Amino acid sequence: MKVLFIGDIVGRSGRRAVASLLPELANEYSWDLCIANAENAAGGRGITPAIAEELLAYGIDVLTMGNHTWDNKDIFQFIDSAPYLVRPANYPIEVPGQGYTVVEKKGKKIAVLNLSGQVFMDPMDCPFAKADQLISSLSHCDHIFIDFHAEATAEKVGFARYVDGRAAAVVGTHTHIQTADEQLLPRGTLYITDVGATGAIDSVLGMEVEPVLKRLTTKMPQRFVAARGPAMLCAVWMDLAEKKISRLALTAE
Ligand SMILES: [Fe+2]
Ligand SMILES: [Fe+2]
Repeated sequence: MKVLFIGDIVGRSGRRAVASLLPELANEYSWDLCIANAENAAGGRGITPAIAEELLAYGIDVLTMGNHTWDNKDIFQFIDSAPYLVRPANYPIEVPGQGYTVVEKKGKKIAVLNLSGQVFMDPMDCPFAKADQLISSLSHCDHIFIDFHAEATAEKVGFARYVDGRAAAVVGTHTHIQTADEQLLPRGTLYITDVGATGAIDSVLGMEVEPVLKRLTTKMPQRFVAARGPAMLCAVWMDLAEKKISRLALTAE
């Protein structure tokens, strides 16, 4: 079972990078399942029904989210009728949407989970306890794939070690900067601390530079806008059966 996971797609530049680079990538790699983090797909903030459809049309099967899940209110129109859309599972129980989805590819069932960290993030239910609960309830699945959306590297590595041998893969998202630590953990889980982002290169984490600098230097609130221009696609390609992981970073015009 081969999986391509694309890191946080930010705004139009990120979506264009997916459109232009996925066919190129497909010449070199093959995959059975394509997952992407789409929490920043709509101008850096959340997702809309049209953008979800656009991303699915590029060949992405599952969209995971994160702390920006609710930023675009359009999500409330469709989250409960979108089986391909997964928001963090450790939100309070009454929140709409789903924290995992199960997809079937090549006769195998793969559960795709999204969990948020707690360190330097909005308060959330414990991701470790939630992972225990979900992993045991998904024991009928052949593979468990987790997008762990978190800020602190120690929490990400710790979480991956906690589920090592129980999940096929744990990929970190949220920091938008790709880490060079892709690895196979001792008990068999494929892991990377952060896949990185898919968005404009001339930016701060995919957003226009100037408003970010203004906020950092003046502490005044600023409206952040997704940056335009040449973009980068960050992803990992994994072979779950062969236990291989490759880190990918490509640039597009
Ligand atoms: Fe993000
Ligand atoms: Fe995030």
